[in-house]
Amino acid sequence: MTEPQFPTVRPRRLRSTPAWRRLVAETRVHASQLVLPVFVREGATEPVPIGSMPGVVQHTTDSLKAELQRAATAGIGGIMLFGVPEHKDADGSGATDPDGILNVATRIAAEEIGDALVVQTDLCLDEFTDHGHCGVLDEQGRVDNDATLERYRDMALAQAEAGSALLGLSGMMDGQVAVVREALDAAGRPDVALLGYAAKYASAFYGPFREAVQSSLQGDRRTYQLDPANRREGGREVALDVAEGADIVMVKPAMSYLDVLADAAAVSPVPVWAYQVSGEYSMVEAAAANGWIDRERTIDETITGIVRAGAEGVLTYWAIEAAERWSRA
Ligand code: PBG
Repeated sequence: MTEPQFPTVRPRRLRSTPAWRRLVAETRVHASQLVLPVFVREGATEPVPIGSMPGVVQHTTDSLKAELQRAATAGIGGIMLFGVPEHKDADGSGATDPDGILNVATRIAAEEIGDALVVQTDLCLDEFTDHGHCGVLDEQGRVDNDATLERYRDMALAQAEAGSALLGLSGMMDGQVAVVREALDAAGRPDVALLGYAAKYASAFYGPFREAVQSSLQGDRRTYQLDPANRREGGREVALDVAEGADIVMVKPAMSYLDVLADAAAVSPVPVWAYQVSGEYSMVEAAAANGWIDRERTIDETITGIVRAGAEGVLTYWAIEAAERWSRA
């Protein structure tokens, strides 16, 4: 019999008390890193709950103002606005109409809270098109990349005019960042920043979002969003968006794409963000509602994991709640 080998290396020492764990934590998430996605519905007189996203609503322009105040008080970094228009058409004309709901909401947000929060807007056509695609269609019903770029250019100018500080290019058209940058500069708006949804995957986790914006999408987005199987291609999209002039790049969804996120964080010369999308939110809420997981611990663990993997900013529907909880901790 040999003597038992007692360890001389004992990692448990630094885990032994809350004070130790707090001192040696490698990742600290701060409220200022969080961005809240906000839906605003045209013509609504009351906030409308989104069934598949318990706790999230489509705001009226009035309830938007209250939400903006809560967000600022909680100390989060910004808000990302989405419009839910009353009428949709093939070109998504509501997106470029200065009186379209997203531009109206942006004007309100910029006025109310533009000094305290970075006001951001989703720059994509899917909320506004009757067919639900992120671009306009050609005669064969395919999403027409270059015709869509012309719509994005006009949308960018409308959003800049309304007061958006950061345009979230989420449509996954080739060349979208370059075209929008050039248009803004030519229009005398070099001040408006661009968030490239560089590595946006064709994900089932967007399911609840479709209800949130009342999307009528038939089919899927696989001809423009990335295949979930592809990691290298995510890196390529990040490099392209950076080369085209993106000020920030995004990986989306977050939790199933932490490898892509870590890759981007390792090489990107600009900030890297991640979007914890609707399905990631609803999955946790549903399990917690059933008593299967501890809701608050799970939320904090997911956000910490996303930051640990390399995200410097996180878009999450829990932004206000998490910020309020952490400020009490
Ligand atoms: C495109 C857009 C989508 C989301 C954000 N921007 C939908 C899509 O690409 O299908 C999804 C966000 C979420 O699921 O929370 N306008």
